[in-house]
Amino acid sequence: MFSKTLLAIGVALLPVTFATPIALEERALANYVEEVTIHSSCNTTQRRQLTKALSDTWELVSMAKEYTYTNGANDSLYELYFGDGPITNVIGAFDAVLKSNKDGVLLRCDDIDGNCRLPGWRGHWRGENGTAETVICDASYTDRKSNDQFCAFGYTVAGSSPSYYFGTDLLHRLYHVPQITDGKVEHYADSYDECLDLAKNNATFATLNTHSLQYYANHVFAIEVAQGGESCIGRADVAGAASAPATATSSAALACHTHADGALHCE
Ligand SMILES: *[C@@H]1O[C@H](CO)[C@@H](O)[C@H](O)[C@H]1NC(C)=O
Ligand SMILES: *[C@@H]1O[C@H](CO)[C@@H](O)[C@H](O)[C@H]1NC(C)=O
Ligand SMILES: *[C@@H]1O[C@H](CO)[C@@H](O)[C@H](O)[C@H]1NC(C)=O
Ligand SMILES: *[C@@H]1O[C@H](CO)[C@@H](O)[C@H](O)[C@H]1NC(C)=O
Ligand SMILES: [Zn+2]
Repeated sequence: MFSKTLLAIGVALLPVTFATPIALEERALANYVEEVTIHSSCNTTQRRQLTKALSDTWELVSMAKEYTYTNGANDSLYELYFGDGPITNVIGAFDAVLKSNKDGVLLRCDDIDGNCRLPGWRGHWRGENGTAETVICDASYTDRKSNDQFCAFGYTVAGSSPSYYFGTDLLHRLYHVPQITDGKVEHYADSYDECLDLAKNNATFATLNTHSLQYYANHVFAIEVAQGGESCIGRADVAGAASAPATATSSAALACHTHADGALHCE
């Protein structure tokens, strides 16, 4: 009888012959899905580009996480973006993207909320219309760049949009999905200078700030993978960087970014 009860609970791998009963709480592992799903509304061209962009996100984030736990919190890049903020937040924010349960997390291509018609929109989180869902608009497929093109086209970490590359754009979009970080990674500072100030003045929030995590991941990738050197960083006043001044290249493209209700983000 006792054994049957245990088996019925379905908590696998437990021996079923205890001398004395142990009070077991019934619990079950949720269905686990590691990968983001690409919705059936995406045609083959879009699906292939999204698959590539997601793999770019994975490459970017894996590199950033590895760099972080390898070099530690006293690393000059770490300190530039996160000050003396807790390294566990940063490792966790990257690991969450790699490993959190993406059951139901969806990228879709059907402009179901009708926002892609608005000028400048490249996608948006669906907010209350679907908290795990993100719409990617057509413009993303024509102007987001791939990791293979890192440090090309005059891109600089400090002077270009943190979402210039499709992979880091999707990183941003995933941070809007509550399932990824339980909503703990948010918008606390957006421009490059504001992010550096946040590291100095409010380091804990820098470790939880979407753009700080993007800028740092981009910086690590520029140095470690793309090997773009200082001209890819683009700021003489940034440690480890020099030469080319900030260019603020794509700020004109940074249309719309409302987060009061968390709904938008369409740059
Ligand atoms: C997929 O959709 C895009 C945008 O509407 C279009 O430009 C492209 O030709 C489509 N690709 C295929 C294979 O149908
Ligand atoms: C980082 O530097 C601080 C201050 O010098 C020191 O207390 C701490 O142990 C260092 N941490 C590591 C991981 O080396
Ligand atoms: C740090 O930033 C958070 C979020 O913007 C804010 O609530 C908090 O008051 C700030 N703390 C300090 C010391 O500035
Ligand atoms: C959610 O759907 C409503 C009704 O279609 C729409 O007005 C609203 O803009 C949508 N929200 C987002 C974030 O797209
Ligand atoms: Zn955003």
